[in-house]
Parts: sequence; structure tokens; C-alpha cells
Amino acid sequence: MIVGVDYYPEHWDRQLWEADAELMAKTGVKVVRMAEFAWSRLEPREGEFELDWLDEAVELFAKRGIDVILCTPTSCPPLWFYEKYPDSVRTDAEGKRIAIGIRGHRCIASPDLLRYADRIVNVLTEHFAQNKAVKAWQIDNELEADICFCGVCESGFREYVKNKYGTLDAVNAAYGNNVWSGEYSSWEQIKPPSGSYPHAWLNPAYMLDVKRYASHRVARFIRRQADIIRKNCPGAVITTNTWFCEALPDFYEEFSQLDVVSFDNYPPLNIPDDPEELYSHAFHLDLMRGIKRKNFMIMEQLSGGMGCWSPMSRTTAPGMIKGYSLQAFAHGADAVLHFRWRTAVSGAEMHWHGLIDHSNVPGRRFAEFGQLCITAKELEKLRGTAVKSRAALLYSPESEFAFKIQPQTQGMYYLEQLRLLHRALCSYGLNTDIIEYGEPLDGYDIVAAPTLYVRNVKGEAELDKFVRNGGTLILTNRCGVKDEHNNCIMSPLPSGFTELAGIRVSEYDPLGYSAVTVRMNSKEYRCTRWCDSLQTDTAVSLAEYSGGYFKGSCAVSENVIGKGRVYYIGTVGGREFYSDLTGYILEKAHIPNLGLLPDGIEVTEREGEDIRARFIFNNSKNSAEFCLEGKAFALGPFEMRIKITNE
Ligand code: GAL
Repeated sequence: MIVGVDYYPEHWDRQLWEADAELMAKTGVKVVRMAEFAWSRLEPREGEFELDWLDEAVELFAKRGIDVILCTPTSCPPLWFYEKYPDSVRTDAEGKRIAIGIRGHRCIASPDLLRYADRIVNVLTEHFAQNKAVKAWQIDNELEADICFCGVCESGFREYVKNKYGTLDAVNAAYGNNVWSGEYSSWEQIKPPSGSYPHAWLNPAYMLDVKRYASHRVARFIRRQADIIRKNCPGAVITTNTWFCEALPDFYEEFSQLDVVSFDNYPPLNIPDDPEELYSHAFHLDLMRGIKRKNFMIMEQLSGGMGCWSPMSRTTAPGMIKGYSLQAFAHGADAVLHFRWRTAVSGAEMHWHGLIDHSNVPGRRFAEFGQLCITAKELEKLRGTAVKSRAALLYSPESEFAFKIQPQTQGMYYLEQLRLLHRALCSYGLNTDIIEYGEPLDGYDIVAAPTLYVRNVKGEAELDKFVRNGGTLILTNRCGVKDEHNNCIMSPLPSGFTELAGIRVSEYDPLGYSAVTVRMNSKEYRCTRWCDSLQTDTAVSLAEYSGGYFKGSCAVSENVIGKGRVYYIGTVGGREFYSDLTGYILEKAHIPNLGLLPDGIEVTEREGEDIRARFIFNNSKNSAEFCLEGKAFALGPFEMRIKITNE
């Protein structure tokens, strides 16, 4: 396993570089990422390239056996560029160019930006093509599927719609524009949703295409740079670093042209006391691994307190630096790079803490990082191992988009619905892949498919095959609601899944923050957000509402179909509701598991041909004592225990 750091040589006096490289080598750093935002240093004046400083930095690390990941700096074009091409700045919904602030102001579809980006990417990749120390390339930084309202993006969206539907009649039919006289009578009327009109009032079918287009635009931008890198550096490993932002791109499309997924991992610093609120970044890690269904890397990992555009957070608690990094390895990361080596002394991010403070005196956090490097070295024998899962959770980018476009009820979020079931599966020690809805499901015993809100015909067929061949499927409320255009399907819910689930939703109540009680196996649970009243056709009821408008009707059902079983959860419960139900489901399907783990304890496995590693992580701020398969464990806060066996 590889540990690295993000390093910005352009932020520091040259005299510091050597000492930094020396300390990194001594500590066990194996890789550095550089040049991410350094365009103004690489091309200080138009067409004048200065790469000597980067050569020198790369050389300093290479000499000490430290590999380098270089970035294309296109997130930060220099000011001379904006001065010359003001039209390449992103345009807001009011039609105004956004202010040039700290970074990311460029419109990624601007032909001028693309021309200059092509050139800098070409120059950089040609220059470093033969440099053996440069092992990988990161494209841009944390690309988000924002909408830009400039003329280029306006016609880009129009072209996207034209190519997709061919005729205006087809667009009008797909969007249901007969409602409220929304019918287009010319292509020019089709544009992104500009102006101050609230997005929530816009046609959801049209808005889903806007989101799709915004995501597509990111993928196109990435592909263009990837093509240049591949041409100049055949065989190079190419990636981009992603994160969970508000305007999420479709991760599967985003990474389709890239070799490896990288993720910027900033797990929680404030750990709540209420176990209901405990939240594990294992969810993000499993999702990242599932994008390409292979190991991934952490390009930026939490190193200290966060703060810049918000007040400073608490610092990393003892154990977090090492524990959270090992948690990433446990979930399939092969490399973890800490953001950042030293905290910046200037610029907007000067209070976002790196491993070393402004003082440049390595302290407690750095010492813990050193411990991590030692453990990572011991884990080198796990190279080539992977997380193999019998459980999967399905993620649908389209449902995520559509759920954001039309929030279903107060406090109900698409990703939250997934997290609840992810937590339940993991609480039994099951490795769980989070994969794209529509992917083949061979090899899994159990699949949780919450909130399949937007129809995916291929996905429905995969689920049907999976269940009939003996798989166990968990569906939830808000499955089968929308067709592929984001219009409501005119048939009883869960529409495409009624036969599989053996139920029909006779009525629903969007509870929001209100609550009802549900009785399951003689135990009462508090449920909230949503309730479907279920009519059982071939299914049997496992739980009934014991209060609320639907008192007495079915809330959770079980249906045997083909060789498999389908569960439908009509409401949203708490931690115990899901873990009790999951325990029952696993038992019914004879799926081997570790039994219910204590709150905060996470167990995962990586395996290779003749080696297996079990990771037992105390992802909590309290010490934990527990028994696992008859063996007693005592783990401190954020402590990881790793057991490697050769087979
Ligand atoms: C990431 C970003 C980094 C840095 C970090 C801390 O999202 O990629 O460049 O800004 O956050 O703010």
C-alpha cells in the first residue's frame, strides 16, 4: 500500500524543497502529486513556458525514490488568459460573467479555454513523456457538473437535445410540454434554465436533460485531455480526482475514459454522540471502488482541521490520520495521498491544515502520519489484493439527479436512502460494492436497490434475472416512480417492480419530519420521511403500521419469486429498524455474515490468490471492547487491527 502527499512546490521557497523531499523520503512517502493549480508558473506569459522549476522538483523526488503524479493545471487559467478572453469565464444564471475569485472560474466548453488547455496539456505531457518518475496524470481538479449560461453552453445544450430527439415534436412529447403551454415551436427556445425563475418550478423532464448535459460536458472535457495525454504518453495512468459535491457528475460516465478512479476523502472530524447520526465514509469508499469495479486511489486525504471559506473545524482527533487512511485501504484504495504536506501560509486556503503546521515544526499529526507510513510498508504484501463482495448496493445517477430536481419530502435525500441500507449491510460485516444500476449482478447473493426512482429498462431486466436465479433483492419506497424522461409512470407503484415485489402501493404519505410507528416481529419502530401503504398480491407482510393514516396496513413485504426473494420497504426507519430487518433477510437467504457488529465497528476483507487480510476498524471516538467469532477485541478510538493470513 502506498502513502503519499500533495505538494505545491510553487508555494514555497526553493530552499525548502530539498528539506521537504528529504523528510518525506525519511518518513516513508512514496508518491507526491504536483502542479495542480500551477498554470501561471508554467506559462507565466502567453506562449512562454517555464518548466525548469517542475523538472527540478520532479528530480528532487525521483532521486529519493519518490514517484510523481502530475496534474493538468486547467482548473486555474492565469489572469493574462482571462484578460484576453473574458468570454471564457463562466456565466451565471443572470447572464453575468462570474467574478474571478480563487479558482475554477473557467467555462469548460469555451473554445478559447479548450485551445489553451490543449496547448498547456500538450506541452506538459510531451515534456514529461520520457520521465520515468512521472507515474500518473491527474486531469484538472474536482470537476463538477455545474451549468454555465454562456452562448457556447446554450447552443451546446440545444445541440444535445437536438441529437437526442431529432424533432421538436419528439422533444415536446418527451418533456410533456403540452402542460402549461410549454411547447417549443423553434429550436432557439431551447436553452439552459437562466434568469431568476426558481429551478423548482421548471419542468422536471427538461431539468433532467439539463443535468445530463452538464454531466456530459464534464466527461467531454476529460476525454479531450485524456486523448492528448494518451497520444504523448502512451501507457500512462490517467485519472481525475472527484468528490461528493452538490452538482455531482455521473461518476460512471466521468471515469469511463480514465484508467483509475481517484477520490478526495475528507471523513468527519466531529463525531456525534447519537449513534443514529454516526456516519461512515465507508459509503463513499465503496462507491468509488464500484465505479470501475476495481481498486482506486485517494488523491487527497484529510490531514488536519478544515477551514477557509468557513470557520475552522476541529482538528483531527488522535487516531484519525492513521485510522481513516487504513479504512480507505480496507475498502480497496491502493494509494492514499494526504492533502497536504504543509499548510499554506497564503491564499484562500491558509487555514485548511496539512500534515505540518504553518510553523513548519512537525508535530502530533505528522508523527501519526509517520506511523501510517510504517504500517503501509508492512501492508505492501497486499498489493494485488481486492475487495470481493457478495453484497451490492445499486446507485443510479439519474435517480440522484431527479431526486435533487424534485425533493420528495422534507429531509429525504437520495444518497441518504442508500446510506441507510449500506450501513445495515456493513453492520453484519459484509463487504458491500456500490455499483451502477444496470450493471450485471452475477456473483452477488444480495442486492439492495433503494429508491430506483427513474426507470432503467436494462436495470429492471438484470434485477429480474438476478432474483429468479436465486438472488435476494431489497427494494424501497420511491422505486419505479418515473419513466426515463422523468415523467410519472401511469401505473400502480412500484410500476416495473410490481410482479417482482408482489405488492402494489395503494397510497403513500410523504411524512417529511413527522413520524409513524411500525410494528415488526412484535417490536415497535419509529419511522419517518415516507410511508407507502402496501397491498400484498403474492407477497406476505413482515411489518405493519401501528399508527398514522395507514394503521394496520403493510409497511414491509417479502415475496418469493423464482428461486429468489424480494423485500420491499415502504417507509424509512432508524438504525435498528434496518439492522433487525437485514438480520432477518440474511438468515432467510443463508448468507454467511459476522452477526451484528457493535456501533462503529467495521470489518472488511481484501483477498488475493494466496493471501487474505481482515481489517477490523473502530470508527468511533470511544474505545470498544467486543467479541468477534469468539475472539475478544479491545480497540482504541479510530484504531485498526489487521490480520493477514496466507492460504
Ligand atoms: C479539495 C480540493 C483541494 C483543496 C481541498 C481543501 O476539494 O481539491 O484543492 O482545496 O479541497 O479545501
